[in-house]
Amino acid sequence: MKTIISPSILSADFANLQRDIKKVEKFVPWLHIDVMDGFFVPNISIGIPVVKSIRKVTDLFLDTHLMIEKPIRYIDDFIEAGSDLITFHIEASKDDTYKTIEKIKEKNKKAGISIKPKTSPEAIKDYVNLVDLVLIMSVEPGFGGQKFIEETVSKVDYIKQISKNPDLIIQFDGGINNITGKICTQKGANSLVAGNYIYKSEDIKKAVESLI
Ligand code: DX5
Ligand code: ZN
Repeated sequence: MKTIISPSILSADFANLQRDIKKVEKFVPWLHIDVMDGFFVPNISIGIPVVKSIRKVTDLFLDTHLMIEKPIRYIDDFIEAGSDLITFHIEASKDDTYKTIEKIKEKNKKAGISIKPKTSPEAIKDYVNLVDLVLIMSVEPGFGGQKFIEETVSKVDYIKQISKNPDLIIQFDGGINNITGKICTQKGANSLVAGNYIYKSEDIKKAVESLI
């Protein structure tokens, strides 16, 4: 499977969001949208109305990363706004994990489950075969521009071992650049999120190509 690159618009200029989406559009299939609530992570970013506006200006696949407590409350709203994939955190979904996945799948959208750097991959063992994507965070969620935590990469082995789905997408998010991206893909990751590395580069096409 070709590695799916998903630029994180957290590193874009929010006053020029459409311009910054157009900058990456020709080179990638996905767009990563980081949603933060100030509770699950110590930061607040963007939400439903912004996804709705983004949907109007691009046909990119909208990869929505919910860093919010009790994500089940907002699944329908994000789908209605135009999300194609919704990834939520096991640490935030508590007893609602099965129901949250079900809610996404019943609308025929892709579901993803994520673990923070300190969470063991065993925490998601019951869900790996119910979702389309596993997101392994390679920084503490909350902010762009942090340093890649290399110890997170070995989690891929366990996920691959228990997965029965040959099409499972294993995504890394946080501190991804031309060096760390390759560390992830060599282990078997097939999707990379990159914010700062892509948006701070002069040549977006070159930056995207250099990740894999
Ligand atoms: C962090 C976000 C990431 C972030 C990645 O909480 O989930 O998507 O934007 O940014 P970089 O690539 O700069 O680490
Ligand atoms: Zn993210």
